[in-house]
Amino acid sequence: MNSPISLNLTRADLIVSHNFIAGNWQPSLETNPSTLAVTDPSDASLIAQVPDSGAADALAAIDAAQHAFSDWKATPAKERANVIRRWNDLILAHKEDLGKLISREQGKPLAEGHGEVIYAASYVQWFAEQATRANGEIMLTPDRSKRLMAIREPVGVVAVITPWNFPAAMITRKIAPALAAGCTVVAKPAEDTPLTALALVKLAQEAGVPPGVLNIVTTSRERAAQVVDVWLADTRVRKISFTGSTPVGKHLAKASAPTLKKLSLELGGNAPFIVFEDADIDAAVEGLMVAKFRNGGQTCVCPNRVYVQTQVHDAFVKKLAARVAALKVGPARDPSSQIGPMINPRAVEKIERHVQDAVSKGAQVVTGGHRIERDDAPLAAYFAPTVLTEATPDMACSCEETFGPVVPVTRFDTEAQVIAQANGTPFGLAAYFYSQNPARIWRVMEALECGIVGINEGALAAEAAPFGGVKESGYGREGSVHGLDDYQHIKYFCQGGLG
Ligand code: SIN
Repeated sequence: MNSPISLNLTRADLIVSHNFIAGNWQPSLETNPSTLAVTDPSDASLIAQVPDSGAADALAAIDAAQHAFSDWKATPAKERANVIRRWNDLILAHKEDLGKLISREQGKPLAEGHGEVIYAASYVQWFAEQATRANGEIMLTPDRSKRLMAIREPVGVVAVITPWNFPAAMITRKIAPALAAGCTVVAKPAEDTPLTALALVKLAQEAGVPPGVLNIVTTSRERAAQVVDVWLADTRVRKISFTGSTPVGKHLAKASAPTLKKLSLELGGNAPFIVFEDADIDAAVEGLMVAKFRNGGQTCVCPNRVYVQTQVHDAFVKKLAARVAALKVGPARDPSSQIGPMINPRAVEKIERHVQDAVSKGAQVVTGGHRIERDDAPLAAYFAPTVLTEATPDMACSCEETFGPVVPVTRFDTEAQVIAQANGTPFGLAAYFYSQNPARIWRVMEALECGIVGINEGALAAEAAPFGGVKESGYGREGSVHGLDDYQHIKYFCQGGLG
């Protein structure tokens, strides 16, 4: 393995190569410790090595989190809020470094890396504020001799398991509410992107998060189950918050049943994007570009299936194809790149398989449709932004998340037909539609089976909004006034003998 490349960070110490347990940065506790190489997906150059942790590290993290819990729970909400607010300030103060780190380990263009830092911090600020508003309630009594009250309490130790596509925002969206609620945390970031998570934890330490309250272990895809199995089996872990695939989410639900943990599962999507004949076509093209090509199409809320009403189909496809063909593909280190490399070779293989399957079943390639070979990227990590037409429900790209820069377009005739198609999936995370007819807007919004609806809008996520799905896209809501609920339980008090 070559020596690590330099990212020229202002604070080189934000690149951390250790686990953080009980307030200590430490190597893996396994008997034969090994490391995991973190690389730039554009050219596989080495950025750093981190611990390839196992069961011993997972257990030590729970011990530390459990030990710290009673004190953190008893810490006044205002003090917890102040610590979380300082974490927000430090994240924003290190926006340049963090943005660079995100984009280099994950592959998204630098501007998107910086945007993600702001997005990630927005959840930290939001939950610093929410921490002080988690009030209880006094209920009207049915009996003169009694008084009835309820308070919110932190559930305990929370296991946070995050994906690679938003290495900062998914960590903060889970850890900030957990800390705000008074929970302690054991976290495992995705194997492809652990460095951003480690840097964020370092800033949390600097913000004053006490030892043991926040613990993080890194691990490879091969050993991840060793870590997660310890957390699943341990009765002290009272909640799991996971963002990732539906099969893994189902496994977590099943394996945590014996200890009846609380679960928040933000799982796969298969978002429809519908353009009605009464839509503003330019706005719809613009909205689709934003929603689809953010992070190169690697988001759970990306439109995966595009339905366009027959009357406007050809005009829409023509405008869309011109925009898509003009997208500049390249590495995150090139500031002019708009679409970066895919996260790893498996991701590119999946996208290629979806396109080939669609073409073999009758789809037409309007633009793109192939890998991009670059001299500086021997692993061919890039896929050309692609528009396909004549997509049908039997194609893999209509049934599974492609997670790449591919837009399969299907033409439709009636509202009833497109609603049936849009809902004809086990998933229900996001859906989008464009229409200028107020009656239709309400009808369609109510008919779509999903947790998030974009109406004449492609950019939906915001810290003040509830993020989450229905059906096999999971349950629980992140962000918003509901975001603390999953980290708390309600305790009811009844005082009697009051005369
Ligand atoms: C995701 O892809 O899981 C998250 C997307 C978002 O926060 O907008």
